[in-house]
Amino acid sequence: MSTTGHGDERRRFSTWVFQDWRANTRYPDSQVILVCFRLAQWSYTHWGRPGLVLSLAYRFFVSLFFSVELPYQAEVGPRLRIFHPHSIVLNPGVRLGADCVLRQSVTIGNAVRRDGSEKGIASAGDGVEFGAGCVVVGAVHVGDHARIGALTLVTEDVPPRGVVLGNPGRLVRVDDGGA
Ligand SMILES: CC(C)(COP(=O)(O)OP(=O)(O)OC[C@H]1O[C@@H](n2cnc3c(N)ncnc32)[C@H](O)[C@@H]1OP(=O)(O)O)[C@@H](O)C(=O)NCCC(=O)NCCS
Repeated sequence: MSTTGHGDERRRFSTWVFQDWRANTRYPDSQVILVCFRLAQWSYTHWGRPGLVLSLAYRFFVSLFFSVELPYQAEVGPRLRIFHPHSIVLNPGVRLGADCVLRQSVTIGNAVRRDGSEKGIASAGDGVEFGAGCVVVGAVHVGDHARIGALTLVTEDVPPRGVVLGNPGRLVRVDDGGA
């Protein structure tokens, strides 16, 4: 990779760390988790074996002290907000866009069939809000600015700005751009 590429990556890394920090000023525990998460991602991808050891230490620390599994392999856009960072589980293959909100007890990931085969891993676009205790699993995509209600189970795609509530999750409306 070119020096400019490295420089861009470094700038993006530090920008995202500061943006995450500012996006979570009401939750110092979330600030700590996100700084550690970005550092673990950086060390995992740039520092070889010592980086892997650091990123594993991050995973252990955050899981043990916060009961949060935010794997360093997950793709998470800038300014993630974590309100009440407890019992949150993301699969390592999860992809989240920018400006998403996670609340306590959110699960995003894989669903496994009875025969052990996997259905795939959920992803979400920008500005998606995940309500407390919601579960989003399987090869589904949650569109930009969608809102997933508290305790909702999502097993199907959600359109951009869709609002999904309940278990099983029901698309109750699609908000317009101003909502
Ligand atoms: C998904 C959400 C953003 C939708 O908000 P909204 O568009 O303002 O919708 P409303 O709150 O007006 O609710 C609309 C209807 O859905 C119902 N509803 C709201 N949330 C629901 C949920 N999670 N599950 C089932 N029904 C729900 C409401 O009772 C209401 O029903 P009604 O029309 O019969 O009165 C919001 O309901 C939600 O769940 N936010 C997450 C909140 C959360 O996790 N807080 C944690 C704080 S620690």
